[in-house]
Amino acid sequence: MKFFIDTANLEQIEEAHDLGVLDGVTTNPSLMAKEGISGEQKILDHYVKICEIVKAPVSAEVISTDFESIVKEGERLAALNEHIVVKVPMIKEGVKALKYFSDQGIKTNCTLVFSPGQALLAAKAGATYVSPFIGRLDDISSDGMDLIHKIRLIYDNYGFQTEILAASVRHTMHIMDCAMAGADVMTGPLSSITGLLKHPLTDSGLEKFLADYKKSND
Ligand code: G3P
Repeated sequence: MKFFIDTANLEQIEEAHDLGVLDGVTTNPSLMAKEGISGEQKILDHYVKICEIVKAPVSAEVISTDFESIVKEGERLAALNEHIVVKVPMIKEGVKALKYFSDQGIKTNCTLVFSPGQALLAAKAGATYVSPFIGRLDDISSDGMDLIHKIRLIYDNYGFQTEILAASVRHTMHIMDCAMAGADVMTGPLSSITGLLKHPLTDSGLEKFLADYKKSND
């Protein structure tokens, strides 16, 4: 299972990268705005900085919504760095663009996916990754994990190569549930990744080991 971090914050990306378990980064316009990154050139420069830190897939989202503009914007993003993955929304024009990018060998991440049918369409169009949003489904009393199970079943039934990138992951249990459901990738905040480290028995056990060592070596 691959771990992506869902942020545009360079310090957090560096921290996750230093931990040695980071396989990529996802961003979106809201995450870029949260970091105060605005203006076309600054946004493009920021993507390059992220790529240079992780040297692994970095999803950069288009803000266009018609086919011609999505293609133009996506090609510009893809030309920035070999690690850029063009993030395209699950809309009719987006599906057309996914197919176009797939034919051109440009990697894509189909975002804002909330149903198995949308995930099937993204795979048919040749998306590299599909991003079902677990947390946002949970937010409206729908079962986010059920969506991951259904997409896994559909993709396995037909051998689709599109990777299931579980997005809108909010906490460690989402990660564990995704791992058990067979998601290929999860993307979440740094806290969801470092949360996996924590167990009170680890802390108390280590404290005792170190105290016993000190007692017998003093
Ligand atoms: O990758 C999509 C993700 O950024 C959405 O997460 O927490 O805003 O629902 P969230």
